[in-house]
Amino acid sequence: MKKTILDVDTGIDDALSIIYAYESRQLDLLGITTVNGNVPLDDVVRNTKKVIQLIDDENLKVYRGADRSLLKEVHSEYKVHGNDGIGGALSEMEATKPEGEMFAPDFIIEQAKTHAGELTLIMVGPLTNLALAVRKEPRIAEWVDQVVVMGGLVSKAGHGNSLPTSEFNIYADAEAAKIVFHAGFNLQLVSLDVTLETFMNRKTIEKLKGTKYYEFVLQSTEVYRDYSSKRFGMDGCALHDPLTVGVVLDPTFVKTEKYFVDVETKSELSYGQTICDFRKLWKKEPNVEICLDVEGGKFVSHFIETLKVKS
Ligand code: BDR
Ligand code: CA
Repeated sequence: MKKTILDVDTGIDDALSIIYAYESRQLDLLGITTVNGNVPLDDVVRNTKKVIQLIDDENLKVYRGADRSLLKEVHSEYKVHGNDGIGGALSEMEATKPEGEMFAPDFIIEQAKTHAGELTLIMVGPLTNLALAVRKEPRIAEWVDQVVVMGGLVSKAGHGNSLPTSEFNIYADAEAAKIVFHAGFNLQLVSLDVTLETFMNRKTIEKLKGTKYYEFVLQSTEVYRDYSSKRFGMDGCALHDPLTVGVVLDPTFVKTEKYFVDVETKSELSYGQTICDFRKLWKKEPNVEICLDVEGGKFVSHFIETLKVKS
């Protein structure tokens, strides 16, 4: 089983990615690290605890990470994820789970050193925790086996979700993303180019009826499905963060190519843009494996089948 840390800003699709990663039973989840993003850190931590309590495994640990971006002003995505960040689901539940004692970036460094050459990092929020880890211990890039990031967009110019050029996770902390992209990791980017090809609508969710996660998936995604349909005309919601877990579970869900990718941090118009040098004009060594195609249907079926756990 792959030793894995999942870094989240829970968030509706983050919640689904935690459940998917856990229920796949293919990953050795060393811990879930949290970061400010979709909602403020305290809410992210509370939501993450609740999701882990729903899963009901005491061994699954949550670590508190960065409560703000490196430079950018904090802003939350209540319109996408609802006022509490998980669409009002699990509102009756108290988040009682104790937290791991380490600060998330330190936990990531410690685990990378302990499991040098073996650790996979799945990053589905802003990249602040990993950037802080790199600044403190640059050798982490050699120790970690693979970093898979949900973020950015490279070929679908104009289809960003924070700015026309920019995707939320990168836009929320572009300086952190730049540090991570230049750190020398074996890095894969699961960007909007492919995540926007993965939809889950109500009919798909109905396939979970009678199983453990049905109510949570139905309730938590209602606000998100509604927003996606009104704002982007989508039939259901995109499974951005679950797909990022999905490509670790089954790399054949996507087609990838390696290029040099950099992050714009100076521009007002395009802060947080991920720019891919497809024509190698910058003559730089490729640093990011980007996803250019996805078997969306195959992935969504796998996601649903994995979540079909008895109540
Ligand atoms: C990303 O931003 C967040 O709203 C989602 O959780 C996902 O990680 C998509 O742009
Ligand atoms: Ca997220």
